[in-house]
Amino acid sequence: MPATVIVGAQWGDEGKGKIVDLLAQHSDIVCRYQGGPNAGHTIVVGSETYKIRALPSGIVRGKPCVIGNGCVVDLEVLIGELDEFERRGHPTDEVYVSGNAHLIMPWHVAIDQVSERRLGKLAIGTTKRGIGPCYADKAMRLGIRVQDILDPKILRQKIEVALAEKNLWLERVYETEPFELETVATQYEDYAQRLRPFVADTSLYVDTALRNGKLVLFEGAQATLLDLDHGTYPFVTSSNPVAAYAAIGVGIGLKRIDRVLGVAKAYVTRVGEGPFPTLIPEPQQTRMRELGGEYGTVTGRERLCGWLDLVALRYAIRVNGIDQLALTKLDVLSELAELPVCNRYRLRDGSETSEFPAHQSDFHAAEPVYEVLPGWREPLDACASIDDLPAAARAYVEFVERELGTEVTLVGTGAERERILSPHGVASVAGA
Ligand code: IMP
Repeated sequence: MPATVIVGAQWGDEGKGKIVDLLAQHSDIVCRYQGGPNAGHTIVVGSETYKIRALPSGIVRGKPCVIGNGCVVDLEVLIGELDEFERRGHPTDEVYVSGNAHLIMPWHVAIDQVSERRLGKLAIGTTKRGIGPCYADKAMRLGIRVQDILDPKILRQKIEVALAEKNLWLERVYETEPFELETVATQYEDYAQRLRPFVADTSLYVDTALRNGKLVLFEGAQATLLDLDHGTYPFVTSSNPVAAYAAIGVGIGLKRIDRVLGVAKAYVTRVGEGPFPTLIPEPQQTRMRELGGEYGTVTGRERLCGWLDLVALRYAIRVNGIDQLALTKLDVLSELAELPVCNRYRLRDGSETSEFPAHQSDFHAAEPVYEVLPGWREPLDACASIDDLPAAARAYVEFVERELGTEVTLVGTGAERERILSPHGVASVAGA
């Protein structure tokens, strides 16, 4: 069973990068299938810390890495990462970037920034990396794609056509500075020269690998509740992190996907705006943020913390077809005496439901109904296997499994690479 999708089951920042890094050692290829540098993964290897935004996390393990057609690519960010990995001694000759992926251009970033400002109180709280405007241009059929960098004449022409329209918007609607054609064209020709060798037919590459029995990981960015279709719209990203999109965003048949691993934190966090039923009140909010080090990798923003929400997780299991879960950052809960877990929502009419509300206004008004589990109040540092966990910590994990009817096959107990427990072994989670 060689193709595994790893998908965020909450609002992002579940620690997917670390899980991908772990499973990558037993895999042959790691692919990203959507999103762009709005993602941010931190991987700690001994004294080295890697912060990755564009490249798949498999790069740290030296695995072939694919940036699929469903991604949006900021050349400055990607080239910066390629340069840095090369400098730190990691080869990049097996990085493959789909020619069909779209380029995030400087005007996308500018428009993301000014449109968020204009929205004022209604702002989405985006990462301001140009993600939404880039996907919008893709849908409008105005985008510039990675393959356009292969021919300097075409690239210049496309920039010229796009700028003729974008500058009008920037100046007349957003009342901000336009871009100068020569400056952008020269800069992009430099980027193009650096990136050309990496452009590939990634659909063919991944399909051939799967046919040859290779183990391929599909690394979702952002998460289920930020999905454009299935998330808490409009407070979502502009792509589809859900597992089914792995097939579209890489260009393989959907029957090639064998398994879906959902990654969830042992509590919940959210950055940006939007409803958040299990939000922890102060002063515990600040305490949780500090215990978990909950600050955005990309933006440095404070993440809001909430108690574990099984209603939302049940929904993530449904819309992704998750067949096993990784529960990360269990150690962060070690200091707490009591652990509320939300297993149902109370709706406006007083009824209770264990299923995620289908309509936005029901979700906005939903109140969490908690079951309070006892904490374990001891560090998990010395736990080398699931059996070493304190009884209350094991009970917490078992409660999640029982209520969701889904096995937890990985448990995170610390930031370092080796601090993950697995009842059946990591290789089996990777499908090896
Ligand atoms: P955008 O993806 O920059 O357009 O932002 C849209 C929403 O997705 C905002 O609420 C962001 O905070 C959120 N978001 C985007 N990427 C991530 C991520 O990697 N982790 C957590 N939230 C994210």
